[in-house]
Amino acid sequence: MKGFDFKDSYRKYAKKLGTGVGHTEAMSAGVDGDFEPMGRILFDLVRSCGLEADHFIIDVGCGSGRLTVPLSRFLKGKYLGIDVVPDFLAHAKRLADRKDFQFQEAAGLSIPAESSSADMVCFFSVITHLLHQESYLYLEEAFRVLKPGGRVVVSFLEFEVPSHWAVFEQMVEHRRNSSAFDHLNQFVSRDGLQAWAEKIGFNVLNIWGGDKPFIPLTSPVTMADGRVYDFEGTPGQSVGLLLKPYED
Ligand SMILES: C[S@@+](CC[C@H](N)C(=O)[O-])C[C@H]1O[C@@H](n2cnc3c(N)ncnc32)[C@H](O)[C@@H]1O
Repeated sequence: MKGFDFKDSYRKYAKKLGTGVGHTEAMSAGVDGDFEPMGRILFDLVRSCGLEADHFIIDVGCGSGRLTVPLSRFLKGKYLGIDVVPDFLAHAKRLADRKDFQFQEAAGLSIPAESSSADMVCFFSVITHLLHQESYLYLEEAFRVLKPGGRVVVSFLEFEVPSHWAVFEQMVEHRRNSSAFDHLNQFVSRDGLQAWAEKIGFNVLNIWGGDKPFIPLTSPVTMADGRVYDFEGTPGQSVGLLLKPYED
């Protein structure tokens, strides 16, 4: 992990995933594919976690816009997307086609928003690419920028979920054959996430395992591999819902 740099790491990874395919496909592959169906699942997730049309949502690690696109058709309030890959930001901005939507390249682990200004901060498949101390710093920032009553929705990989093991096994195989650093896929335990959240001041409202569909869907979603979610969906990763409590 010597010299790990999340910007450099994800930019190289995105480049590798997008090699040999056209621009649109590269923009989807760089955020793990399933652009339209996963965007709908993430949208229904933030809605079921309390997002309203007049809210201000901050999408940390917005990528090329999987969630931005459905939000652009719904949101009347503010949107801020942050990412480390400039091409992703440009793609998301173009697809959203909303002059009022803001996009910013990540500057360190800060969130460029006023304290107590946001209703929701989401991290989808982002802390999976950061060191634990970096995720903690981002969650501290989320706490700062949220209004009391505001919420974090954060997805993560964990050993408790059997389907997440495939990601770990790939890393093990890589390490078996090479000591060169590959891409970081970081796991977090539920207890760990809960402890970070409580230390920062959040209340943990819920943690859902990513292996079982739990998101109420507004319409059926068909994934690229043919799987169909009729009534409830999952992003695959587990999800934590954290609340910044009102002051006494
Ligand atoms: C797997 S993609 C998910 C993108 C998007 N959240 C989605 O679900 O479609 C992970 C994203 O996190 C971004 N990322 C990685 N490190 C980051 C950081 N420190 N700050 C902000 N974004 C970061 C990557 O550039 C990438 O777009």
